[in-house]
Amino acid sequence: MLPVAPPASRPTPPGRLVVLVSGEGTNLQALIDAGQDPGYGATVVAVGADRDNIKALDRAARVGIPTFTTKVKDFAAREDWDRALTVATEEHQPDLIVCAGFMKLLGKAFLGAFGGRCLNTHPALLPSFPGMHGVREALEYGVKVTGCTVFIVDAGVDAGPVVAQAAVPVHDTDDEQALHERIKVAERVLLVDTVGRMAREGWSVMSSRKVRIGS
Ligand code: GAR
Repeated sequence: MLPVAPPASRPTPPGRLVVLVSGEGTNLQALIDAGQDPGYGATVVAVGADRDNIKALDRAARVGIPTFTTKVKDFAAREDWDRALTVATEEHQPDLIVCAGFMKLLGKAFLGAFGGRCLNTHPALLPSFPGMHGVREALEYGVKVTGCTVFIVDAGVDAGPVVAQAAVPVHDTDDEQALHERIKVAERVLLVDTVGRMAREGWSVMSSRKVRIGS
């Protein structure tokens, strides 16, 4: 079941972003950079991770953004981890949560607290190629166009309502890494644009799954 946001969620500018990460953090960096402009309408107030020693945490620390790390292995049950992540995120009073390369599925507690205002970005044109290996699977399938999707997280795997997408051509010479890097260039632009518009204009999630930015 999709947790539906109240009609026209609209943060008071600047919107408070908590970004969840697991790796390199280039999407996080793009959001941090965008937030330097007061006109952007949103600013990264905290960064959460599911592991230590990742570049994304270094990027946050470098500019003095608070971080927290909540590791699955530190909890007896996955639900306990999910609750701890919820509490740690809640402390920063986010208007919007952005999973930017966060490689964990969020659970009931998290979606109960933040459903309808938690975004994810995926390196394929959903609903094609969901899951951990979207770039590899698109390449193996032989598609000529792939891309990236910003969507609202629900209880499924990369299954929530689509907010925005961008297409990226596949070249004959592409391997997974080259294609992923080209997708990430488009993804950073799409994510920054989408988050900024949502923060400035508000958004609604219709029962039809359609997401509308603005009133
Ligand atoms: C991005 O391409 C994002 O779409 C992907 O991880 C990359 C993170 O890059 N996420 C997933 O595949 C989630 N299923 P970054 O750490 O440089 O922002």
